[in-house]
Amino acid sequence: MQLLINFVIILGFISPCLSTRLNVGTKDGIYNVMDYGARGDGKSDDTQAFATAWSNICKARGKSTLIIPAGKSFLVTKVHFSGPCNAKIHIQLEGKIVAPPKEAWKGGEKLILIENLDELTIDGNGEGGAYGDGSTWWNCPGGCEHERPGILHFHSCKDLSVRNIKITNSPRSHVSVNNCIGAIFSQISIDSPAISPNTDGFDISFSKNILVEDSNIKSGDDCIAINGGSFFINATRITCGPGHGISVGSLGKVRDNDQVSDVYVRNCTFIGTTNGGRIKTVSDSDVSVSDVTYRGFTGTCEGNVAVKFECSSAGCPNIILDRINIDSNQGKNLSTVCHNAHGTATNTIPVVPCLQQNVL
Ligand SMILES: *[C@@H]1O[C@H](CO)[C@@H](O)[C@H](O)[C@H]1NC(C)=O
Ligand SMILES: *[C@@H]1O[C@H](CO)[C@@H](O)[C@H](O)[C@H]1NC(C)=O
Ligand SMILES: *[C@@H]1O[C@H](CO)[C@@H](O)[C@H](O)[C@H]1NC(C)=O
Repeated sequence: MQLLINFVIILGFISPCLSTRLNVGTKDGIYNVMDYGARGDGKSDDTQAFATAWSNICKARGKSTLIIPAGKSFLVTKVHFSGPCNAKIHIQLEGKIVAPPKEAWKGGEKLILIENLDELTIDGNGEGGAYGDGSTWWNCPGGCEHERPGILHFHSCKDLSVRNIKITNSPRSHVSVNNCIGAIFSQISIDSPAISPNTDGFDISFSKNILVEDSNIKSGDDCIAINGGSFFINATRITCGPGHGISVGSLGKVRDNDQVSDVYVRNCTFIGTTNGGRIKTVSDSDVSVSDVTYRGFTGTCEGNVAVKFECSSAGCPNIILDRINIDSNQGKNLSTVCHNAHGTATNTIPVVPCLQQNVL
């Protein structure tokens, strides 16, 4: 400690400018968690080191980079990166942030909570990211399903960019996005087994202009769940499976403003998922579903039903099916099911005779 203090004072004499920078962190806007006491050995608790590094970088000015270095595992019980910050922050996430097992959990609802930040960028190397110890939660007796935490949560962010990171074995959802405007998630690898309960890949709610692209999502629940208050949400070139496919909803759990619109799912691949593209509602005729287009779906189906629309008595107007080619992987003749669904089907295998004409 004595040494460190002398060092700062000496530099202070040489260059007042440099000493100013040392007061708020390190030089060149680089903040490495190792300089704040993190051990990165996968055993020591690095929670405090992350908190100190964050409070320093958040006070800095200009562009600043938080380094979570490669080749290390940082055991934490909670990470809270909260703004607003003076600095425009980049996180170089190349090491592994590791969650403790259930018995040692202290983090509350989320392991990593990132909130109130504009223009945050996070970049990895494909291996860096957040590693849950989800299996200690998945089977917990006595029903701890409501306590199970998520791993990485973004709240109130603007113009966020997250690239090339890995998230595994979350006790609950892997990446959740709430109250964000403008976010791009690219090359995100999510990996949990099919048997893991409620482990959505992405969970998006009350957000706008969100793109998830070029990602690989293996999970025990929805690949991407798009929940109420979400508009202009794009999923592009995602490979899903195992899991439940890409889902809108469930909508209707809350009565007011549980809306979703302008969702584009393009060039996605589903392997071994229970569904492909799905819209889920819960409270019968209160929820209306309309203007849904399914185009260019090809593949195989394990069950008997290839296409299913079960609408309430309010009906689902303007469903468009075009260029669908779904085959049974067991040599069965596949059927289609529609209740109160209106729209058109063109170039579909199997034929979809059950859609009613749109009511004008
Ligand atoms: C999503 O796709 C739509 C339609 O192509 C496009 O207008 C919009 O800019 C895209 N949004 C994002 C965030 O990529
Ligand atoms: C989807 O794939 C088609 C065919 O490869 C390509 O022409 C199109 O640009 C792709 N669209 C997106 C949004 O990736
Ligand atoms: C499928 O449908 C065709 C035409 O209706 C029929 O000839 C065939 O026996 C059916 N196959 C099976 C496995 O049910």
